[in-house]
Amino acid sequence: MSAKSVYVSRIIPESGINLLVNAGYAVQMNPLARPPGADDLLAEAGKHDAFVCQLTDRIDRRFLKTAAPKCKIVANCAVGIDNIDLAAATEFNVVISNTPDVLTESTADLTFALLLATARRLGEAERLVRAGAWRGLGMLDFLGSDVFGKTLGIVGAGRIGTAVAKRARGFDMNILYCNRNSNPLMEKLGARRVSLQELMQRSEFISLNMPLTEETHHLINANALAGVKRGAILINTARGAVVDQVELIKALRDGRLAAAGLDVYEKEPTVAPELLAMENVVLLPHIGSATVTTRNRMAEMAASNVIEVLSGRPPRNPVIQC
Ligand code: DGY
Repeated sequence: MSAKSVYVSRIIPESGINLLVNAGYAVQMNPLARPPGADDLLAEAGKHDAFVCQLTDRIDRRFLKTAAPKCKIVANCAVGIDNIDLAAATEFNVVISNTPDVLTESTADLTFALLLATARRLGEAERLVRAGAWRGLGMLDFLGSDVFGKTLGIVGAGRIGTAVAKRARGFDMNILYCNRNSNPLMEKLGARRVSLQELMQRSEFISLNMPLTEETHHLINANALAGVKRGAILINTARGAVVDQVELIKALRDGRLAAAGLDVYEKEPTVAPELLAMENVVLLPHIGSATVTTRNRMAEMAASNVIEVLSGRPPRNPVIQC
């Protein structure tokens, strides 16, 4: 009997590949030096028993229909699963798994890095030094805003939102959060659940930590931004499409928002030229989970889910379990 085949859509840490190889699978890596497009993925559908994918891969109905029934699992190497048509996966009996927990702390760290970088204008200041334009300390140069004692509004009180709140406690921040349900862990941290409108009105810093769903798509829209506390700072380490980018740019231009720290964008890797031109916006290339330890764990987790399912067991981290 020939070995089961696992397609890996983009390079992942070796520890994940080693698990698959040691389990006896024939691992086929995407040979392209770029993320596969929909047609590249479709060309592989029907040939493999499992796929290890990234959030940059569109796992749509057409792909799942063609991939099944040979393909038993699509293991997403991310916690977010907005790239996958879950209804189609259920329809065609393809297990979907993700990588929760392991990236919570790294992503919360990066959220705080962006919060501090925007508050203290690190991007602008660093650009000045690198340009050789620093003329020495100036009492009025690069005045930013304090973080300690300020109000942080966290939209989405899941694992990452809660980890952000823990960090905020260390900075003596007042914490508000907006979530469908109240979260006892958040309450224990002293956070108070409020409506989105109240959160926008009262927060000096707003951190977006919700998943992208139909409900959260463009949740931060013209209406939400109309009520923002003047001079607030918005941090997005969730998904670009939870914010209406056109409205974000308007709010930054007219000073309703003093700054923004963005790790994610609506049409990655495209970044709006308006944002690129703004000194008060810190722009990162979707690196929330990018630490050596976390990325290793994500790869290993995805591989373990494949191994479990191809061995006839349930995945350890099911999103859809058939
Ligand atoms: C995720 O896992 O959803 C992050 O956005 C990428 O690591």
